[in-house]
Amino acid sequence: MTAKIIDGKAFAARLRERIAEEVARVKAAGVTPGLAVVLVGEDPASAVYVRNKGRQTVEVGMESVEHRLPADTPEADLLELIGRLNTDPAVHGILCQLPVPAHIDAAKVLEAIDVAKDVDGFHVSNVGMLYTGQKALVPCTPLGCLLMLRDQLGSLSGMEAVVIGRSNIVGKPMAQLLLGDSATVTVAHSRTRDLGAVVRRADIVVAAVGRPEMVPGDWIKPGATVIDVGINRVPGEAGKSRLVGDCHFESCAEVAGAITPVPGGVGPMTIACLLANTLTACCRANGLAEPEGLAV
Ligand code: GUN
Repeated sequence: MTAKIIDGKAFAARLRERIAEEVARVKAAGVTPGLAVVLVGEDPASAVYVRNKGRQTVEVGMESVEHRLPADTPEADLLELIGRLNTDPAVHGILCQLPVPAHIDAAKVLEAIDVAKDVDGFHVSNVGMLYTGQKALVPCTPLGCLLMLRDQLGSLSGMEAVVIGRSNIVGKPMAQLLLGDSATVTVAHSRTRDLGAVVRRADIVVAAVGRPEMVPGDWIKPGATVIDVGINRVPGEAGKSRLVGDCHFESCAEVAGAITPVPGGVGPMTIACLLANTLTACCRANGLAEPEGLAV
């Protein structure tokens, strides 16, 4: 079998088009969704993310506010800024780019963000609401994976899903989202015994461990859907580097029914889902009908 390649770039572009239409509807009702992004310090990768977020926010018709603070900003100043954004009615989503410099307590910062504006879905209250099946803002990357899985498979009810990785940002929320869609969920991780045998049971594999090409094709059940969240830079030809996922793409694609490539799979969905979360937060804050199928 040769797997269908799930084109995350095209999927994310369609999602952004849909969001732009919904933003126009919300604007017609008198509200412009606004996203505030806070960046502390000059981490080059973070600067690229923040620039891309700002550009895509504007492209779908939302308001983008960026706060760039020096690396030596005191924690108290950052908390004060977040306090102001929390009470600013033009701001519906707040994201503090991670990592923050070592002298700042990231957990304290995340907990300071208003739960209703927490478009990263990292606040413990949103984590708890997702866990208990209530309306929540959920982390963008696993939300993107869920939307791709629903698009590919329709109902996930009763399917065997194996999530490899137990991070707070991907693995754990992914497991909760799959459970919410009535899949039978196993969370595997670095200590799981005979990981290959566990993964072979899965109709759905979500790999989020951050280890290059760790999942070989002979772990994949024929016809399974494979979502590869990994983005790992490894040495390539002629002294250059290349990006690979957590799955060995060529061998997995021979067995799977469908698979996301790296790059061009899950990656582009993350910012699109950040925009979806901002729109959802804006609709909920203003008592407007929220778009269907973009949130839990
Ligand atoms: N740094 C890398 N990815 C992310 C993300 O999704 N959210 C935040 N806040 N910081 C990040």
